[in-house]
Amino acid sequence: MISSLSLAHKRPGFNAKNLEKRLPPPQGRGKPRTKGEGSRRMIENNVEKKQRAVLVAVDTGEYDAQVSLDELEELAVTAGAETAAKVLQKRGGFDPATVIGSGRLSEIAEFCKGDGADLVVFDCELSPAQMRNIEDACGVPVIDRTTLILDIFAQRAVTAEGKLQVELAQLRYRLPRLTGLGGALSRLGGGIGTRGPGESQLETDRRHIRRRIAALQDQLAELEKRRGLLRARRKKEGVTTVAIVGYTNVGKSTLLNALTNAGVLVEDKLFATLDPTSRALSLPDGREVLLIDTVGLVRRLPHQLVEAFKSTLEEAANADLLWCVCDASSDETDEQVAVTRRLMEELGVGDKPMLVLLNKCDLISEAPLLFGERTVLLSAKTGFGFDDLLQKTAAALAPTHRRLRLLIPYDRSGLVNEIMAGGKVFSQEYTPEGTRLDALVDVRILHKVAEFVLHGE
Ligand code: GTP
Repeated sequence: MISSLSLAHKRPGFNAKNLEKRLPPPQGRGKPRTKGEGSRRMIENNVEKKQRAVLVAVDTGEYDAQVSLDELEELAVTAGAETAAKVLQKRGGFDPATVIGSGRLSEIAEFCKGDGADLVVFDCELSPAQMRNIEDACGVPVIDRTTLILDIFAQRAVTAEGKLQVELAQLRYRLPRLTGLGGALSRLGGGIGTRGPGESQLETDRRHIRRRIAALQDQLAELEKRRGLLRARRKKEGVTTVAIVGYTNVGKSTLLNALTNAGVLVEDKLFATLDPTSRALSLPDGREVLLIDTVGLVRRLPHQLVEAFKSTLEEAANADLLWCVCDASSDETDEQVAVTRRLMEELGVGDKPMLVLLNKCDLISEAPLLFGERTVLLSAKTGFGFDDLLQKTAAALAPTHRRLRLLIPYDRSGLVNEIMAGGKVFSQEYTPEGTRLDALVDVRILHKVAEFVLHGE
């Protein structure tokens, strides 16, 4: 059903009207509207019907624009829109005024004006002037990839911190673009790119927005402090953490779910996970570790988002081990690993121990190329590879305990309690010389018990 201007333009004599004829008429089209009624119905329509979007990318040879455009489509669908057309234009560079060339812009404008679409989404970031110029030409709201991603984040944010972070990122991104959100947006009254802080708030003056940004920053700083304290406590208590990172939609939540029955939201849509979720996981060596799910990454993640979600991703940065989950059935497994590594480097934790988990192996017939010995072939759906995953995880984590045989004199029996509190006792015997123990001892108290270790037993 999805038409493609990019396919259509290859035929000579393409004109958007022909394309429009092949598309189903948009809902509510042709209904008579009075002025006030019109805007109200527009709002109602936007709630009821899906926005039909023209997706536009420019191929300057800098990255794979077709793949990026396909991802933009997935993002648009996740945000609740449907694709009316996809446009890919090869150009030496972006047009400073309108990004794409004037000929292609007028084709899109004609298409929109014929009610073929009510939203245009650009795959690159738009300057306020570009946004205004394209809106003026098309007569429908124009948004860019970053706004779209922020919109998805706004829909998906669950916790108070997540919501604050999204609002802050949206306001920061919109502030310099306020003039760009001109007539077309105020006619829209809702929909993609306007969720979150709300339209009325955006129409207030810049000073008000700046005040709101400052207030959000304060609240977030407070929450970050609390999160930091929690992390410090975990560290002090010797909790080992494993963070699940990776490209969006590769199955991170499914994996967490399967491993721990955590009940994490699982959907075949991008960004099912916005806020980190953590669950305990038992390793074969008896240790319990904390598994933390993080937000799904996307290719060319807008910088504002890396900033906005730094505190979320900091969970990954502070983890003892990273599980980098990839989709083995995708053509872009290498790219997924590269995106994750790049982001981790950006966060300053590129050298953190990492296991590469090639998930969805149930969908492939041939074993994929391995990324070294720290690779696990996996299927979160069938449970294939779970044993290997747990073994390799235990091996990758620094030892936290050592199994020792000890003889603790009775005048030092406080140590027995300490060993019990931080480890595990397998056997205990009271002898005339003191308490004999076979125990898993926390490495942090080794120096205290070293003189009581029984060697050669
Ligand atoms: P975000 O929250 O967007 O970051 O996604 P995610 O990485 O958490 O992915 P999620 O667990 O939501 O899974 C995405 C889709 O892949 C869902 O439809 C899952 O059912 C499917 N999926 C996950 N693991 C497997 C697997 O091992 N095999 C198959 N066939 N499908 C899987």
